[in-house]
Amino acid sequence: MALKQHKDERVRYEQQVDNSRQYVLPFIEETHPIKPGTNVLEIGCGEGGVLVPFMDKGAHCVGVDLNELRIDYANNFYKNEVAAGKIKFLYKNVYDADFLGMYKGFFDVIILKDVIEHIPEQEKFVPYLKNLLKPDGQVFFGFPPWYMPFGGHQQLCEHKLGMMPWYHILPKSLYRGLLKMIGESDGVIRELSEIHDTRISIERFERIIKSSGLKTVNKQHYLINPIYKYKFGLQPRKQLGIISAIPFLRNFVTTCVYYTVGM
Ligand SMILES: C[S@@+](CC[C@H](N)C(=O)[O-])C[C@H]1O[C@@H](n2cnc3c(N)ncnc32)[C@H](O)[C@@H]1O
Repeated sequence: MALKQHKDERVRYEQQVDNSRQYVLPFIEETHPIKPGTNVLEIGCGEGGVLVPFMDKGAHCVGVDLNELRIDYANNFYKNEVAAGKIKFLYKNVYDADFLGMYKGFFDVIILKDVIEHIPEQEKFVPYLKNLLKPDGQVFFGFPPWYMPFGGHQQLCEHKLGMMPWYHILPKSLYRGLLKMIGESDGVIRELSEIHDTRISIERFERIIKSSGLKTVNKQHYLINPIYKYKFGLQPRKQLGIISAIPFLRNFVTTCVYYTVGM
């Protein structure tokens, strides 16, 4: 039952803009004001919609993604702003020497929204971000914790049964077997297997932040992820403080977390 936004880049773009304006930007601004001239990088920007509210505030924005097609869409959606030099979209790996050469210590804010759970070797990736950040800069992370009911990104499945909660935490071979049995395509099985490999819980994330020499400056856990408004018509809801304070168990009933971290 893949959702509409999985097949329509314009719908994805519009949802990114709205969600960013209502939730991502206000959360970041609780600890880091966005002003004309603030340098903002989004890693894994997709169609680039998350950056729109930042650009509207006069920030200088750069989006990078490893998916060339999505970067082409972004460049197309923002033709005028790209031409005016307000925003730049790059099909690039942030580890590339020329990227680091251009942007060493350059960014005030780095955004990773629904991206960290797709990135291999997060223990190497997160400390690397410090190279791109100004000394007083901050990094935003928003992601669905692995143990939440749909933490395997089951919504990508075509078959109704693929949407079942929690079966993604089965051992990988069993999980892949089930996905094959319900007829999921090789592409979906590959993508879901990659997320199984990179799975990230709240505890593992916080450990990586600490071991990278970064400090949490703000966090918000959600019972209902703000993006579920678009995906399933559900109203966003913050997690209860008492639940957020229970290590491990909180993962099972927390569909999204927002963090900003700094040096
Ligand atoms: C779920 S999408 C999120 C897109 C957008 N940030 C949003 O919130 O809608 C994840 C994106 O991260 C990109 N991605 C995954 N690994 C990446 C990496 N190492 N560097 C840059 N982009 C990456 C994928 O190509 C994909 O476009």
